Amino acid sequence: MTALMQADKLCLGYNGHPVVRDFDLAVQPGEVVALLGPNGAGKTTTMLGLAGALPALGGELRFADLPTAAPLHRRARAHLSFVTEERSVFMRLSVEDNLRVGRCDKRRALAIFPELEPLLKRPAGLLSGGEQQMLTLARALARRPLVLLADELSLGLGPLVVQRLLRAVRDAADQDGVAAVLVEQHVKQVMRVADICVVMRRGRIVLKGTAAEVGARLTEVEATYLTGDDESFEDRNRGSSSFGRSNRLRYGDAVQVRASNSGDKEA
Ligand SMILES: Nc1ncnc2c1ncn2[C@@H]1O[C@H](COP(=O)(O)OP(=O)(O)OP(=O)(O)O)[C@@H](O)[C@H]1O
Ligand SMILES: [Mg+2]
Repeated sequence: MTALMQADKLCLGYNGHPVVRDFDLAVQPGEVVALLGPNGAGKTTTMLGLAGALPALGGELRFADLPTAAPLHRRARAHLSFVTEERSVFMRLSVEDNLRVGRCDKRRALAIFPELEPLLKRPAGLLSGGEQQMLTLARALARRPLVLLADELSLGLGPLVVQRLLRAVRDAADQDGVAAVLVEQHVKQVMRVADICVVMRRGRIVLKGTAAEVGARLTEVEATYLTGDDESFEDRNRGSSSFGRSNRLRYGDAVQVRASNSGDKEA
């Protein structure tokens, strides 16, 4: 199957300084990828790169049949929806007007989130955080994207809303073949809807596997890769080393997780 989006040895950074290196990922239609990692691991940088908002310093990114250098507006036209870390609703506009401004199919948006129907006349600024994110996701999905990129969609929200948002992404993947890459802090919840799990640390992929494989080793994965903050880019440039735990992997030690019944080996 042809990947909708494929990154090969993608290198991304700021002012010419690489932050993310050797990022490889192929996302197939209908596949949901969870991108995990501690603070500062490079998840947002990766999403900006995949969205075309940050030019690649190296490597290659292909989106459907568009060449690497296609800017975001061309990819967006080719049905990429990018939900950024910031809440992207227009607070003073009503829910209905938000849907109109987003040039999305209102009926479709309400089919995805019927919860928004009684709220159509309400200014988005008066919605709860969860309702605002439903509106954000409804807008993103109702445009019928081929690829959805969502960075911290459920930041600060309660478990039920998180589940609701993630379920909508899973449904879009299953019913419409949307390929999704989700950055999530709610690890257990995102694992339930993801097909593939990618863990980043210090700008590198340190772990990649099916969500079932990674989920089977979740406690170990959390303890080894996801706890604690990463050092800042500046610290890294100063050459400081804060590999606090001996079992943390160093740069380039990407591992492929195997099923727990295969002897728990890493290759
Ligand atoms: N505009 C920028 N200029 C320079 N360095 C940056 C910039 N944005 C991010 N960085 C650095 O890049 C590194 C990765 O940051 P990024 O925001 O991608 O991490 P993240 O995994 O999304 O973290 P978080 O979980 O906190 O959102 C960090 O060291 C950060 O300081
Ligand atoms: Mg981030």
